[in-house]
Amino acid sequence: MAETFEPKNIIVTGGCGFIGSNFVHYVVNKHPGVHVTVLDKLTYAGNEENIAGLPEDRVELVVGDICDAELLDRIVPGHDAIVHYAAESHNDNSIADPEPFLRTNVEGTFRLLEAVRKYGVRYHHVSTDEVYGDLALDDPARFTEETPYRPSSPYSSTKAASDMLVRAWTRTYGLRTTISNCSNNYGPYQHVEKFIPRQITNIIDGVRPKLYGTGENVRDWIHTEDHSSAVWTILTKGRMGETYLIGADGERNNITVLRMILEMMGKSPDDFDWVKDRPGHDRRYAIDSTKLQTELGWRPAHNDFAEGLRKTIEWYKANESWWRPAKAATEARYKAQGQ
Ligand code: NAD
Ligand code: DAU
Repeated sequence: MAETFEPKNIIVTGGCGFIGSNFVHYVVNKHPGVHVTVLDKLTYAGNEENIAGLPEDRVELVVGDICDAELLDRIVPGHDAIVHYAAESHNDNSIADPEPFLRTNVEGTFRLLEAVRKYGVRYHHVSTDEVYGDLALDDPARFTEETPYRPSSPYSSTKAASDMLVRAWTRTYGLRTTISNCSNNYGPYQHVEKFIPRQITNIIDGVRPKLYGTGENVRDWIHTEDHSSAVWTILTKGRMGETYLIGADGERNNITVLRMILEMMGKSPDDFDWVKDRPGHDRRYAIDSTKLQTELGWRPAHNDFAEGLRKTIEWYKANESWWRPAKAATEARYKAQGQ
């Protein structure tokens, strides 16, 4: 299917985070005619190094808050699209302190939508499969675009709220928007608070990995580069007002993923600690991405999870200077929570 929208000058919010920065690299590498303005507050999760080395005539970083309406008035005019990744993204943090999630994820989305309304730019909203709540472990069903919203955590409820704002603003004000809801991403540059990098860096440090609850919870893993190609596909070919689910048939339970990491790093399969469960812990996520694949022709390129995981482990081994500064504070937070 041909691209129906050809962006030339886009804003990527959260472009110094894990997934947003991958998208910036993707656009710079694959679409030479596009200029990217990254709008990022550089919270604990944002890191300028994630976009270092990209050509200065292609990528500009504006350090600022998506909740700052005056800043948006200054930078949005002249752009033809906003791709919105910026968020507070970690469930455990949202349980400890929900307030920043309300502000960035809900108010931040509201401010962006108001700017989109004022300046008539195309808007793509990056969201999560967690808005659909969870599935039972033995349920053959997967999430589709028709699944009712049933978020469980403070994080996922703020993402669900932000999706609803996008839909309401689209219907009421006729904005040109799309939404994507993606499953769990993995790959380089992911913060050490998240499951896979936390366990890899613990093992590097000689610390036993930590598994929540029974370890049976299932996540549907997708390589972050596949997420980026899917978002570009939706931005350029998606139908206005539509939602597309992004996933790559990567369901695995946590204990399986942890044992793969242990084995790949030369440890015994039981070399980890069971720790207390996350309150309200979602059991299983699973994405049916038929609509994206059949309507827009998207396909994931990273279909070998073991290979992707092995490369991710190598990346963390080779890039200790990138993750080391965040490690001690992250583990101190977990320790205080008994995890
Ligand atoms: P991340 O925590 O790694 O990065 C978030 C980025 O947003 C950081 O660079 C941070 O500095 C920036 N940011 C935070 N608050 C801001 C604000 N008020 N103004 C401007 N910038 C701000 O997150 P991630 O894992 O890369 O997730 C990115 C997006 O993708 C989020 O919207 C998340 O909900 C969504 N998502 C994530 C996953 C996943 O597996 N990580 C899966 C599906 C969807
Ligand atoms: O599904 C998409 C979502 O995936 C995104 O919207 C979120 O932004 C992203 O953080 C991720 O959420 P999860 O809560 O699934 O990811 P996390 O990496 O925190 O945890 C993955 C699973 O591993 C989850 O079942 C909890 C478990 N876990 C996590 C940590 C940090 C452990 O067992 N031990 C740990 O130390």
